[in-house]
Amino acid sequence: MNPRAAAHRILGEVRGGAFSDRAASRILPAVDTADRGLALDIAFGCLRLRARLDARIRTFADRPLSRMDGAVRDWLRIGVYQLTELRIPDHAAVGETVAAARAALGRGRAGYVNAVLRALARSRGNDSGAAADPFPDPFPDPDADPVGHLCSWGSHPEWLVRRWLARWKLPDVRRLIEQQNRPPDVVVRMLSGDDPAPPDGVELTPVRGWPRSFRLEQGLPAMALSGLTAVIQDPAASAVVDYVGGRLAEPVLDVCAAPGTKTLGLAAGYGVSVVALDVSQRRLARLGAPAARLGLPVSAVVADARRLPVAEAGTVLADVPCTGTGVLGRRADARWRLEQRALDDLVALQREIVDACAAAVRPGGLLVYSTCSLEREENEEQVDAFLDRRPDYRREPPHSDGATLRSDCVTSRGDLFVRPWLTGTDGAYAARLRRIA
Ligand SMILES: C[S@@+](CC[C@H](N)C(=O)[O-])C[C@H]1O[C@@H](n2cnc3c(N)ncnc32)[C@H](O)[C@@H]1O
Repeated sequence: MNPRAAAHRILGEVRGGAFSDRAASRILPAVDTADRGLALDIAFGCLRLRARLDARIRTFADRPLSRMDGAVRDWLRIGVYQLTELRIPDHAAVGETVAAARAALGRGRAGYVNAVLRALARSRGNDSGAAADPFPDPFPDPDADPVGHLCSWGSHPEWLVRRWLARWKLPDVRRLIEQQNRPPDVVVRMLSGDDPAPPDGVELTPVRGWPRSFRLEQGLPAMALSGLTAVIQDPAASAVVDYVGGRLAEPVLDVCAAPGTKTLGLAAGYGVSVVALDVSQRRLARLGAPAARLGLPVSAVVADARRLPVAEAGTVLADVPCTGTGVLGRRADARWRLEQRALDDLVALQREIVDACAAAVRPGGLLVYSTCSLEREENEEQVDAFLDRRPDYRREPPHSDGATLRSDCVTSRGDLFVRPWLTGTDGAYAARLRRIA
C-alpha cells in the first residue's frame, strides 16, 4: 500500500474511534518496509499536530472544516503536514498526495484537495524559495495570546493548556508542549550494567543524563534488542524502576503491570521473582515473549487490582491507570481523547487500587505508587489523601541505592517527578510508601 494511503487509512480508523497504535499495527504490514516510517510519521504527525494543520487549512479553504467530508479533511491534513513539517519537496508532497486522494475519492473531491494544497504551497514559496502569493501566519501572537498560540500552533486542548499555565511558567509549558509534539525517541534501556554492543544495521547513542539508556538512531527495535539484555523503555519509566530502590522484600507484586516493561526491570534490577497482575489479558500476554527471551523469573496473573488475589506482599508496585498527560507525545491521538471529567473517574479508580494494595502489603513492606501523569490530583494529592486515610504508612525518600536518579527528578518531599521540559523525556511520578505498623 502507498504510504500516504496507509496514513489516510490510519486517520480514518482513528476518526471511527480506533486507537492510533492499534490502527497502525493493523495497516502497516500492507506497506513496503521501506515506506512504513513515512506512513507512520505522516499519520501520527497529523494526529499530534491536528490543530496546527487545521489552522493552516482554514486559511486556504473556502468552507469550515466542520462542513468538510472527514476523508477530504484528512487528505488535506496529510498534504499540509508534508508541506510544512517534513522536508518533502512541494511538488512531491502535493503531487503524491493528490494522486493517492484521487485513487480513493475520485477526481472531483481530489480536485478540491489539490486546489487547497497548491494555494498553501504558493503562499510559502516554491521549491526554489520565493513566495509567489504570501499569506499571513494564521497563529495568534505567542506573547499577546499565549493560550491561543499553544492551542493552535502548540496543538493541545485548551483545558489542558489553561491547567498547565495555572501551575507552571509559560516557558516551561511551551517546552513541555514542544516536547510532546516531536516524534518520541525509541530508547533501549540496558537491564545489565554492560554497554550495548548492537548488531549490524543498528545505531545506538547514549541518552545524556541517563546512564543505562540509549537512543535508537537506526534500525528496528526488535533488531536492537536481539542479543542484548535490554527492553524498549523511556528513561522516565526506567526512573520509576530505579526509584523503587534497595533490597526488595518478597513476594514482589507489580499490579497494573501490562505490558510488563517495569516488571522486567524489577526482576532484572533487583534479582527477584515478580508476579505481574493486570486486568487486561490481551495486554498481559505481551509479557511472555520478552520474559522468555531474557530468562527472567516473572509470572503473569489476570486480576483486578481492586480485588487482589494475594493475601500478603513484601513489595508492591502500583503503576496505576492514569490520564497519561506525561506521555501525550507517545500516544499520538491521546490529547484529543482526553476529557477533563475522565480525570475524576481515574482518581477514584486509583484510590481504590492504592487502598487494595495497601491492605496487601505486610508491616515493614513497601508500596510504590506511580503514574505517567503530570496532574497533581493523580500524583501528590492522591498520595497525601492516602496517607491521611492510612496513618500506618509513611512517605519515604529515595533509597540510597538510587544513585542513578537525577536530582532534578526528586521533589523536596522525596517523590519522583520527571518533568519533560527539564529532561527531554516522557513525564512520570512515583512515591515510596512504607508500611510502618
Ligand atoms: C500505566 S499502564 C501500566 C504500564 C506497565 N506498568 C508497564 O510499565 O509496562 C496501566 C495498566 O493498568 C491496567 N489496569 C487498569 N485498570 C486495572 C485494574 N482495575 N486492575 C488491574 N489493572 C488495571 C491496564 O490494563 C494497564 O495495563
